[in-house]
Amino acid sequence: MLVNAKDMLDKARDGRYAVGQFNINNLEWTKAILLTAQEQQSPVILGVSEGAGKYMAGFKTVAQMVKAMIEELNITVPVALHLDHGTYEGCYKCIEAGFSSIMFDGSHYPIEENVAKTKELVEVCAQKGLSLEAEVGSIGGEEDGVIGMGECADPNECKAIADLGVDMLAAGIGNIHGKYPANWPGLSFETLAAVKEKTGDMPLVLHGGTGIPEDMIKKAISLGVAKINVNTECQLAFADATRKYIEAGKDLAGKGFDPRKLLAPGTEAIKETVRAKMELFGSVGKA
Ligand code: 13P
Repeated sequence: MLVNAKDMLDKARDGRYAVGQFNINNLEWTKAILLTAQEQQSPVILGVSEGAGKYMAGFKTVAQMVKAMIEELNITVPVALHLDHGTYEGCYKCIEAGFSSIMFDGSHYPIEENVAKTKELVEVCAQKGLSLEAEVGSIGGEEDGVIGMGECADPNECKAIADLGVDMLAAGIGNIHGKYPANWPGLSFETLAAVKEKTGDMPLVLHGGTGIPEDMIKKAISLGVAKINVNTECQLAFADATRKYIEAGKDLAGKGFDPRKLLAPGTEAIKETVRAKMELFGSVGKA
């Protein structure tokens, strides 16, 4: 069932668990995540970056594929289709394409401009029934060519954005996209607690879920994080399983080159990764 993310995140905040956002890259990714959510009876958010949208032949293709797949696979758990780190223009494209949720990442604008653009999108999303995520304090690391410096968000700026009526807020707390470097100091729970105090009931979003130790994930959830984004970990699991299949020479045996066989171990590995994250985040059985 395609829904916006508001209800599932409000419930997660109240129930002290988090809903996973898993980024999709193609049909196999989408199918693996949807089937796992159904099997685990977990709500789920499918994240689509602008780069991934382009790769999959445009946001309309993605929206149609996801809607058709939900129907054909009889997915009854709540599913949100969410633009990840959207530009202002990208947000409007996804609204038109039929996404149920968008993230406007105005973190690189001066705060006044972030506020103005987010405010406009709050109104548009409210009219059209979409949920909206905003960001304050850019997330570190590199994603689709966008390089964030990994700042810690200013709690007062978080309040200014939260008060506009967004449904969820991503605040930088030292988290970064991709693998964490060995000298990473960890999440700033001080910042997270200060943001929570200023933003009250706002479900908070933790980006860069790959590689954050389990105890830090649990602590973040206890401090108000209700949505956790995972991308790289599924990619690593997929690549690892695919490499093993090829290194074992399985593509050369019989019809092992058939993409339905060649991509099967990687697809299973995505399912395993998603299953483990849903358990860690506490969203299993919460559909
Ligand atoms: P990772 O790739 O580090 O899991 O981050 C995902 C993310 O935050 C998407 O917005």
